[in-house]
Amino acid sequence: MSPGFQLWPAAASQHAREVDLLIGSFGAMVWLLSLPVFLLMGFFAWRYRRGRAANRRHRPNRNIWLETSWSAIPFTLTMVFYVWATGLFLDLQHPPANAMTIDVVAKQWMWKFQHPEGAREINDLHVPVGTPVKLVMTSQDVIHSLYLPAMRIKQDVLPGRYTSEWFTADRTGVFPLRCAEFCGADHAVMGGRLVVMSPARFAEWLAANDGGALSPAERGAKLYRESGCAACHDRAANGLAPSLEGLFGTRVQLADGSVRTADEQYLRDSLILPNSAVTAGYRPIMPSYANTFGPDEIAALVAWMKTSGGSRPQ
Ligand code: CUA
Repeated sequence: MSPGFQLWPAAASQHAREVDLLIGSFGAMVWLLSLPVFLLMGFFAWRYRRGRAANRRHRPNRNIWLETSWSAIPFTLTMVFYVWATGLFLDLQHPPANAMTIDVVAKQWMWKFQHPEGAREINDLHVPVGTPVKLVMTSQDVIHSLYLPAMRIKQDVLPGRYTSEWFTADRTGVFPLRCAEFCGADHAVMGGRLVVMSPARFAEWLAANDGGALSPAERGAKLYRESGCAACHDRAANGLAPSLEGLFGTRVQLADGSVRTADEQYLRDSLILPNSAVTAGYRPIMPSYANTFGPDEIAALVAWMKTSGGSRPQ
């Protein structure tokens, strides 16, 4: 991060360069369409100023091609930009399946990151270059927004919901990481660094920083065991509650007749608001765990449910 004034933020991903190209091209188009208008306006103001002898008879002169073209050309140009920008936007909604998932919890006024291997960090985010990284984010208090200028991505982070954003850094370096939603007195200092490292250096960093910590999935398995979830969700628990084995990603038929995909949001809702998502065939007997588990514990349970993929924790 170079100190002082920066006219244009560094770009550290293919997406960032595509966004820059889009913005630059759009800016050029706006100049192209508006500059002649202002130049002609100035020219006519000078040419037909009061006191100047000029032909002021404005003979109506229809020209269908001219009139069509000044509507059709800008329309076509804006449609090109519409399709281009929508493509980029949709790309942001679809992280690759092999993306490395990092859990993010925002709170006044810090960013907490947890890597799938267990390493945790605050305000700094270390990632390897060339690897798609998906950030699954939630907030512990108010609305924040995680902005990575070098990746040209920004996404609101909401209490009680998961949102995500993803990027693939294509050069190493240290880039700013900001909160981009006014969130209270220290909003201005809520930020840190995105550290993009070579895969080898990242592996070293990870080994040095996991401190023997449990990975989120391991922590989730431990919570599942210790919080008594198995009493109802175990296969042997007399069908009180559905089994969680292999649940993630499946379509779930709910008691209210609707069908939902068992994604992160669904699993989270089931812990916080169990009665909003009762599986068909079961009674609404599960209590809410909103006051039992913090956001990082819920993230851990969700991580476990995602990775257990059919195996029950011991
Ligand atoms: Cu968090 Cu602004």
